[in-house]
Amino acid sequence: MKIGMLTSGGDCQSLNAAMRGVAKTLYNNTNDVEIYGFLDGYKGMITKNYKLMKEEDFSGILTEGGTILGTSRTPFKYINEPDKEGRDKVAGMIKTYKDLKLDCLVMLGGNGSHKTAALLSQKGLNVVTLPKTIDNDIEGTEMSFGFQSAIDVATRTIDEIHTTAASHSRVFIVEIMGHKTGWLTLHSGIAGGADIILIPEIPYNVDEVLNTIRKREKQGKKFTIIAMAEGAISDEDAKLSKKELKEKRKTYTFPSVAYQLSDELQKKAGQEVRVTIPGHVQRGGIPSASDRTLATRIGVEAAGLILRKDYGNMVCIKEGKFSKIPLEEVAGKTKMVNVDNELIRQAESLGISLGRKA
Ligand code: F6P
Repeated sequence: MKIGMLTSGGDCQSLNAAMRGVAKTLYNNTNDVEIYGFLDGYKGMITKNYKLMKEEDFSGILTEGGTILGTSRTPFKYINEPDKEGRDKVAGMIKTYKDLKLDCLVMLGGNGSHKTAALLSQKGLNVVTLPKTIDNDIEGTEMSFGFQSAIDVATRTIDEIHTTAASHSRVFIVEIMGHKTGWLTLHSGIAGGADIILIPEIPYNVDEVLNTIRKREKQGKKFTIIAMAEGAISDEDAKLSKKELKEKRKTYTFPSVAYQLSDELQKKAGQEVRVTIPGHVQRGGIPSASDRTLATRIGVEAAGLILRKDYGNMVCIKEGKFSKIPLEEVAGKTKMVNVDNELIRQAESLGISLGRKA
């Protein structure tokens, strides 16, 4: 059995653990397996840049962050209507698959990468995928690997900001990744004891943020920690067109939502604010124990799908159990935080402000 394997999109902790899970299960359950690792994501498949992996390549990588295969962003802008360049790339991948006489392609990736995987599957390739992202925004799975490690890093940042915020009686904004969704910010904000949590799914009101800061001051709490998702948006900005928003954001100190809010609070009420952006640190370093376990188990399940020739699926977690979902049901969708989500209710019950106008 010949397997092609690639990691695509932004990296995250425990990608190596997941690949190890797939490989170990395959080597352990069949004598006849060859794994071709494509380098730097789909790019390696397009340019035929690959490495025939040895069993040892998958040893000693359980605790390593990043990806031993390298990665790159998905190669198509408009995957559903690929232009000539896009069509050539798809043709290149199909050719590589056929030239190598692969039985299956295993793809570890997030939202964008699943569009390409679904397209290849539609074109007749056997594809099995694993959900990878720190954003936890992949449709059809309750959890992706990478997410839990990123929560730990973002939470540690909030923890560390707490001591300096308390010493200086300051307001701090910690800007947290998550692309267009608030999963990472909600989880790390609750874990880190943030006082205000701002997520893209609930546009925030600047006056409400100020009110919360003032209310805390009146209660004798001299510092405030705001956990803010990188995709968060104010209720005023939510009314603007994409073009207007782009223009407006040019006027702020840095092209970051945290600096925008900091400037707004300063302008409105002379509020002194400090901003901390952990950035790609959230995707780096050693995976957490729970993430390693999750990634390994997802890897085992993916190998099971390959061995059973159950192609065209992504391994997913549904109602806490391992399952599978057809690629076409995953591709092109984003799992947003529903405003009725219990996390929202629980955060507000704790007295955390989500910046909604009272
Ligand atoms: O999807 C993972 C992620 O880290 C997002 O949270 C973030 O918006 C984006 O990738 C950053 O992308 P890049 O690594 O290309 O700067």
